[in-house]
Amino acid sequence: MTTRVVVVGAGLAGGLCALRADRAGCSVVLLSKGPLGAGNTAYAQGGIAAAMGGDGDVASHLADTLAAGAGTVDPAAARVLVSAGAEVVDELAALGVVFDRDAAGALSLGLEGAHGRPRILHAGGDATGAAIQRALNTALRDSDVDIRPDTLATEVMIARGRARGVRTLFRGAETTIDADAVVLATGGAGRLFAHTTNPEVATADGIALALRAGARVADLEFVQFHPTALADGELISEAVRGEGAVLRDEAGHRFCVEAHPAAELAPRDVVARAIAAAMARQNGRPVRLDATAIRATERETASFLAGRFPSIDRRLRARGLEWAREPIPVTPAAHYAMGGVATDLDGRTSVPGLYAVGEVARTGVHGANRLASNSLLEAAVFAARAASAVALDRPRREPGLAGALGGATVVVPPVSGPPTGSPDGLPPFSRVALQHLMWKHVGLHRDAAGLRHALATLDAWTAEPAEPRSVSEHEDANLLLVARTLTRAALARSQSLGSHYRSDDPAGRTASALLSDKVA
Ligand code: FAD
Ligand code: SIN
Repeated sequence: MTTRVVVVGAGLAGGLCALRADRAGCSVVLLSKGPLGAGNTAYAQGGIAAAMGGDGDVASHLADTLAAGAGTVDPAAARVLVSAGAEVVDELAALGVVFDRDAAGALSLGLEGAHGRPRILHAGGDATGAAIQRALNTALRDSDVDIRPDTLATEVMIARGRARGVRTLFRGAETTIDADAVVLATGGAGRLFAHTTNPEVATADGIALALRAGARVADLEFVQFHPTALADGELISEAVRGEGAVLRDEAGHRFCVEAHPAAELAPRDVVARAIAAAMARQNGRPVRLDATAIRATERETASFLAGRFPSIDRRLRARGLEWAREPIPVTPAAHYAMGGVATDLDGRTSVPGLYAVGEVARTGVHGANRLASNSLLEAAVFAARAASAVALDRPRREPGLAGALGGATVVVPPVSGPPTGSPDGLPPFSRVALQHLMWKHVGLHRDAAGLRHALATLDAWTAEPAEPRSVSEHEDANLLLVARTLTRAALARSQSLGSHYRSDDPAGRTASALLSDKVA
């Protein structure tokens, strides 16, 4: 009997899962709410972390992943992740991704924060994600996968305790797709915040769909804020710091040196908070990323930057910023969701027939702070494993999912119960109002009073539900549900941990004990 699968999302995780399930003999429908591949994958800059040099390399990648996660990474999951680096690179190359090489023909490896050695493979200099998404799209179009762009999944259909398909919205028309398995691969949640590197589609849909389907979610409070974005959210890759760029405050001082021994290449949560603290000292004005001294002369620097980071170079010049000549203004922005739908190591969620892969999933590999460039790797590794599980699970029926998810999974308290009270002067709900509320009170710095205020506002907005009809109404409902769940989780975790920084617990467990003193 052929297994029918609906994969929701066509980035690296969904695209690869669809291809693999197709190859395994499943009948696959692939949904993308916008054009094919309009998600976070296409924006990835720095590249994909992969241990290519054998056992020693795998061990050091594992050690860096565990350390960056502030002691909260699941070691078994991380081992699965880092052990598959070379395999994933081979698979992507077979799909047509051309990774950059040096003059001698060896793979060119970049360095990013908290990596003990260069191990980031990249394509097109700083356009790795675009290269991957292009190759995937081509392979998908050449496959038997039934690709449905502009199709929003609005609900996971549950019958007799298992996922049976999805409801969708396509050009205003509601339809249903029946399936034996549903794979959520909907990507990120950056659009919960006013400042983000994520594109417009990153509205946390998969987490909301999973919550409504009764699936367990975990670690939602762990949101990664990338240290260096322009004011409009345009990312300036960490690889730029890996090549020697430094961060300076308005007085020209390299403040990261005091925050961590690795300075600008400390774990991402450390650098982001050091920047926030420096910005607070200068009335919120951005700090500067200084790449001017990467080479001996301005001319050599300009030529190096244009060659190594062609896309960033083009975008900066389009904004009138000559980064070989002068430092550019940067600020942190919401970037990545470490938490999400809780899965086992094969993408199974707590709901039979429902799987989650990629950024929407919480596999345990990132803990409280993701190591740079580990997410493309995660998307590829767990997409392949989930495709195998989908193909295998159906004939064997249910493999006892709840047990597989027990143990270490930290479960977010469900959103239920009475609202926490309407705050005075409640503004009307709008997506922009929600994003500013989340940025201000559930962002880089959190405390009990701010979180309670945010939750009360979100609860009050939730108390007036409207039946969503359009794509943006569905997205708003998803953002609201996930914002509320995330804020509850942040309130429940009263100690600072990794990316979750409570200014009312400055001495909490972060990747760097030094940092806490600096940002207090
Ligand atoms: P995505 O690529 O985001 O794909 C999600 C898909 O789901 C999209 O097709 C979207 O249309 C679809 N979708 C969403 N909701 C619905 C719905 N309701 N119905 C139907 N379809 C839906 N990571 C690295 O490892 N290295 C990097 O260098 C790197 N750089 C980055 C740079 C930027 C600017 C950003 C934003 C992220 C970066 N990341 C990087 C993170 C990484 O790109 C993502 O975590 C990863 O690509 C996620 O892949 P995904 O397949 O899970 O999701
Ligand atoms: C970057 O290039 O800085 C992004 C890398 C990542 O998010 O892993």
